[in-house]
Amino acid sequence: MKVLLGVTGGIAAYKAAEITRALVKRGDEVRVVMSAGAREFITPLTFQVLSGNPVGTEIFDPNYESEIGHIELARWADVVLVAPATANFIARLCAGMSDDLLTTVLLATRAPVVIAPAMNTQMWGHVFVQRNIAMLAEHPGYHVVDPDSGELACKEVGAGRLPDPEVVLEALDRARAPQLLAGHRVLISAGPTREAIDPARFLSNPSTGKMGFALARVAHRMGARVTLVAGPTTLRAPAGVESIPVNTAREMHSAITTRAESMDIVVMAAAVADWRPKIVNDSKQTKSSISPTLELEANPDILAELGARFGGSDASGPLLVGFAAESDYIKERGLAKMQRKQAHMLVANKIGGPDSAFGADSSSVVILTAESSMEVGPATKEELATRILQVAAAIQKSR
Ligand code: CTP
Repeated sequence: MKVLLGVTGGIAAYKAAEITRALVKRGDEVRVVMSAGAREFITPLTFQVLSGNPVGTEIFDPNYESEIGHIELARWADVVLVAPATANFIARLCAGMSDDLLTTVLLATRAPVVIAPAMNTQMWGHVFVQRNIAMLAEHPGYHVVDPDSGELACKEVGAGRLPDPEVVLEALDRARAPQLLAGHRVLISAGPTREAIDPARFLSNPSTGKMGFALARVAHRMGARVTLVAGPTTLRAPAGVESIPVNTAREMHSAITTRAESMDIVVMAAAVADWRPKIVNDSKQTKSSISPTLELEANPDILAELGARFGGSDASGPLLVGFAAESDYIKERGLAKMQRKQAHMLVANKIGGPDSAFGADSSSVVILTAESSMEVGPATKEELATRILQVAAAIQKSR
């Protein structure tokens, strides 16, 4: 992706260097344009070294214009990011001014524009600034990244901080992604569940939640309103996604079944424990007191229950997407599971062996629907999530 990064003059300008590094590291091509104010905080040389490209600073710079003209630069960009964006820059942009290289390029570009404001919290809250922000946010093709709250460089506490690079990059990806799920509500389950034996022991499985979290991130990127119900994981919920942490299969069952009806798509990516100990001890059992035989009872099958309520050809309920973790006969067992649980779609993946899906960053899956089967991968979980949600969006559209 070709990213034009505009840097304006705030103390957060140094964070634009981290953003440049992160973009280059993931393979994006970056060209940086700096306002005069930005150059008071950080030098063009920093961005030149980090981006590997000359940095634009002046609108009437014959050297830079011979390298790439400002109109050409506006056409070159797949996406424009301004981080940090100061109140002054935002005001000039909203007034349609083109009094420096960055504002000129912004008026000339047709690429989506992501604005990441950062400033003193009183300035951010000022009615004039908020009026300008509202104007930008309403404009098609413009995306505003809300500033973080916390202690600011001026020692005041409040909203105004430039968010972490990963949040800014996520906003960039969202601005570029086709909005296949715009207006859709998507509920995703992820991770394992834990079934307590006593306060010190539980039954669980090796699911890390990576697949479900990738699905949540990509669904949000595609424009969906996403709710993520996650068992215990070490992963951070993606920005912009409503996150509901749960522990047990029964907690997950309640979180999912109470919300499913108001959803357009439900994806059960969680590795729900099928069984729980029949007796849960309130206090820790000693080695000698614990029985070597554990009596179990069945947990609710969430997907099967949703299938009984919303499965089949009735399109009034949500589209149900199941997962199947299989060691052998992946496609055949996946198809049988899809039919048994009355899911509209099912993603079958392999567990066990060197290419096990559990915990891996990439894997291969078979995407099954009533009409088709599609093998995808090996691919990253984010790429798999994109394919899965593209198929789900297409089915949902045709229902
Ligand atoms: N699932 C569920 N509730 C359960 C168990 C599984 O909702 N109690 C969902 C999973 O989230 C997944 C699908 O059902 O979408 C299949 O999960 P999997 O573990 O492969 O299947 P099981 O039903 O446990 O069948 P088996 O272990 O016998 O293969």
